[in-house]
Amino acid sequence: MNPLQVNPRIAIVGATGAVGDELLKLLISRRFPFSALRCFASEKSVGKTLHFDSQEIVIEKLEKNSFIDIDIALFTAGSSVAKQYAPFAKESGCIVIDNSSAFRGDDSVPLLIPEINAHALEKHQNIIASPNCTTTIMLLALAPLHRLFPIKRIVAATYQAASGAGKKAMSELEEASKAYLENRPFSPTVFPFPYAFNLFAHTSPLLPNGYVEEEMKMVRETRKILEDESIQIHATCIRVPVLRTHSEALNVEFHERVTVEQAYEILSCAPGVKILENREQNRFPMPIDAIEQNDIYCGRIREDQSQKNTLDIWVVGDQLLKGAALNMIQIAELILAAKPVEIGAAQQ
Ligand SMILES: NC(=O)c1ccc[n+]([C@@H]2O[C@H](COP(=O)([O-])OP(=O)(O)OC[C@H]3O[C@@H](n4cnc5c(N)ncnc54)[C@H](OP(=O)(O)O)[C@@H]3O)[C@@H](O)[C@H]2O)c1
Repeated sequence: MNPLQVNPRIAIVGATGAVGDELLKLLISRRFPFSALRCFASEKSVGKTLHFDSQEIVIEKLEKNSFIDIDIALFTAGSSVAKQYAPFAKESGCIVIDNSSAFRGDDSVPLLIPEINAHALEKHQNIIASPNCTTTIMLLALAPLHRLFPIKRIVAATYQAASGAGKKAMSELEEASKAYLENRPFSPTVFPFPYAFNLFAHTSPLLPNGYVEEEMKMVRETRKILEDESIQIHATCIRVPVLRTHSEALNVEFHERVTVEQAYEILSCAPGVKILENREQNRFPMPIDAIEQNDIYCGRIREDQSQKNTLDIWVVGDQLLKGAALNMIQIAELILAAKPVEIGAAQQ
């Protein structure tokens, strides 16, 4: 059988995690064509089974030769795993779509949001990075505006859900909330601070410039995706006690005036974006609106009265989907559509 004529063989590295769960669901719901699926996780999960489309899939141990029979590997197991194993996958001729920060800054690696910079795929050398969730959600709303009215500066405040830190963080929020309401002591293990009915700065490493790493990711990744090093970005990332779906308040200065009406008009036909609001009821997008939704929601667009050429935009999006798993699957779909000849290139 000519391998170029069959559907790709897929691997998920990190299949037991919060993003892994969504990848498995999306393979089914989007009818992603594949001829084989192998799942990998950490050593503690090896041998356990995952229920997938009425089959039981056994979790395998990740090894350097795990990718020999794989065409597309979806990596969602953190940057150290990606740094260690993606090169082996690449050597095997497999295309890696990585959801960690491991390769996002690498000039030879496209950092891709299919609705925004699909053209960057052309330059890939078998590793493609999916951006940080907060950046993806922000840019889905801002890229269509930037295309018509170049952005000068973004000031972002984020309200990030537990799910952005994985399955254990979601459980911690649930358990901590129960304990709080039952007046029981609770010792956090995922976050260093009490999470129930509280909020705190994003716990990624604090850098010498006073920003946390998550905030600087938004700066670097925005410039790379929009291919514009001149955009100024200032972010404050906060973890809030919401189970799933990030929210962001974006204050965006343009080089020229953009009216509120123009912004609504542009965003109402932007791919992956929905406007959701009812001004009579003071009703704007909320995390519960976006849970398990592929689109991100925008609303409450208003002109900043303190500064010219500046709009305020409120955005919410399910970061497990568009911020992670959905974006990865869309990249895989793009690969299939654009370069079918590469599929099956893995060594036999
Ligand atoms: N959550 C989000 O919204 C989001 C958004 C964008 C990017 N990301 C990135 O995606 C990655 C996963 O996030 P997540 O939220 O799914 O985390 P998670 O729920 O903690 O899942 C982590 C996954 O990685 C696996 N893993 C850990 N160490 C491993 C190893 N040494 N070898 C193989 N597999 C290993 C885990 O396996 P076990 O179950 O066996 O431990 C699990 O399947 C992270 O890099 C994160 O930064 C997440």
